[in-house]
Amino acid sequence: MSGKGTPLTNVERLARLASCGPESDMGRLLRRFWQPVAVGAKLEAGKARALRVLGEDLTLYRGASGKPYLVAGRCPHRRTLLHTGWVQGEEVRCIYHGWKFAGSGQCTEAPAEGDETAARIRVVSYPLHEYCGLIFAWMGEGEPPAFELPRKAEFERPGLLVIAREQIWPMNFLQQIENSLDAVHVSFVHLAGKVGPFGEAVTANIPTLEYVETDSGIRQIATRGPGNVRISDWSFPNNNHIVTPGRRKDSPWVHRGVWNVPVDDTHTLKFGVYAIPSEGPEADAETLAHFDAHGDYNPAEHHDALFEGRGWPSDPSLQLTPAQDYVAIMGQGAIADREHERLGKSDAGIVLLRRIMQREIEAIRAGEPPKIWRRAAREAELPRQGGASA
Ligand code: FES
Ligand SMILES: [Fe+2]
Repeated sequence: MSGKGTPLTNVERLARLASCGPESDMGRLLRRFWQPVAVGAKLEAGKARALRVLGEDLTLYRGASGKPYLVAGRCPHRRTLLHTGWVQGEEVRCIYHGWKFAGSGQCTEAPAEGDETAARIRVVSYPLHEYCGLIFAWMGEGEPPAFELPRKAEFERPGLLVIAREQIWPMNFLQQIENSLDAVHVSFVHLAGKVGPFGEAVTANIPTLEYVETDSGIRQIATRGPGNVRISDWSFPNNNHIVTPGRRKDSPWVHRGVWNVPVDDTHTLKFGVYAIPSEGPEADAETLAHFDAHGDYNPAEHHDALFEGRGWPSDPSLQLTPAQDYVAIMGQGAIADREHERLGKSDAGIVLLRRIMQREIEAIRAGEPPKIWRRAAREAELPRQGGASA
């Protein structure tokens, strides 16, 4: 990279958008927002697990009370992994020599050293907030902002089945976000292999596109005809709110939140919240069974089969659609080669996204206040039918 004070080349400016370690520009930017880091139901009280997110190795555990905590991945004594120890009450004890840490990161016991030593030791810790089945972390500096931007009114209505999922895809987070601001891909990617609900809903028409910066991020409007207008609200910096077809043809459409959170530069945690309108106990039980049967499908685990053309997965909504996106996005490589791409007018959303991200990075670098993003207040405008973008 260029030295301090030397203007970055275009290639360097593009590269910094995909670099997400703790000291990177993009990493610093992402850490200024609440980020989902785990599905809450997968973390039992009294259990700890390792968690790598935003290029940092951490320990996620749930105390006996049910409250989750996020602290350093390694014990500061001789650097073994803290999650291999024991959760005791609201604290975690290292397996090696028994140092114990509170959720605040404060060492509360160092049995072979004594209380004075323990009192001087503290490891990193980050505040957590559980919402819609996801555990969100705030990994920025200082006090966290109120938990507002990730919330969606459509997730909080009564009478919903709310299902949270996570999986890891082996590529950079940015190309996954760019895909969500690329409405044209739907007319091709989601017709690939065979036509699922997305393909049926959108037709192959090329949409007219409009991308507008809003208080919360970017509003995307893709018009494929009078009865086929697709609006989605993308919240800065890595969350898309979309509406997609339900399980059956006559099912109501489903509001979905999708977050792409870097594990590191070449792996991404993908979190999804599905807010599914209840259709009665019997249909709801079928919906839950459908998620149990197909919801853990991760196209990354079927990479060779997908790329060698040995066939698409069977379930249209929970398997085919992500598999189609995976093939297109993974085909760009672990980190897309933006230096050699040829953008066109259909890439207006991507151009706007990059411009906003560069602007915010520049503000932070200059010590100026970045934009204060507020959650979308006009979610009622999201369509219930029309095209689809996943
Ligand atoms: S390495 Fe953790 S207590 Fe020694
Ligand atoms: Fe898609």
